[in-house]
Amino acid sequence: MKKVKIFPSILSADFSNLTKQIKLVEQSGADGLHLDIMDGHFVPNITFGPMVVQAINSITKLTLDTHLMIEKPELYIEEFIKAGSDIITVHVETCPHLHRTIQMIKSHGVKAGVTLNPSTPASSLREVIKFTDLILVMTVNPGFGGQKFIRAMLEKVETLTRLRDNFNPSAVIEVDGGINERNAKSFVESGADILVAGNSIFSQNNISSAVRNLRKASNSHK
Ligand code: DX5
Ligand code: ZN
Repeated sequence: MKKVKIFPSILSADFSNLTKQIKLVEQSGADGLHLDIMDGHFVPNITFGPMVVQAINSITKLTLDTHLMIEKPELYIEEFIKAGSDIITVHVETCPHLHRTIQMIKSHGVKAGVTLNPSTPASSLREVIKFTDLILVMTVNPGFGGQKFIRAMLEKVETLTRLRDNFNPSAVIEVDGGINERNAKSFVESGADILVAGNSIFSQNNISSAVRNLRKASNSHK
């Protein structure tokens, strides 16, 4: 049985109580924190920048998985790395020179992820998959937490898992958007190694048991 990782997305956390909420997910066995950076241009929502990432880095030892939903990410990558990011993921749609951007991330000694919107074909990663550490499959249109996952993305996860197995077996597959206890197992069986979950964790009264229940639900025997 493979060990699936759970990365809570703080997008749905109570920001007036962030330290406490991060401690709760840390204590309940989360493997990392997913940080959603939105610029109001690439996606219709604005969140936070490197200052907040730095503050989070000072209160947790969890892996910081920074998902850049911003235009011209290459202008800000270094700042997010200095702030403490361990993984930087960029969107294919925002990077005309994707190979160069991946190399730039890796040159700072952190892991490089690439992601694609639901409408972007899996094949758009074919030429860069061998250079990436992580492939993030968006299972909703990015911009907001709490959306319903797009079922057709299960097949896309399978396609990308096959590409990964063929061209870069050490890369990991992460899924993001609408992941919950009911669909976690299907995503794991399709190939996901990391589950990002925002609303299904932070909207619960008991955040710790939400993390534990998601882990239980994700157990697959494949
Ligand atoms: C969507 C973000 C996701 C989001 C996931 O734009 O990239 O990381 O926070 O949240 P849920 O799990 O609520 O869909
Ligand atoms: Zn995200």
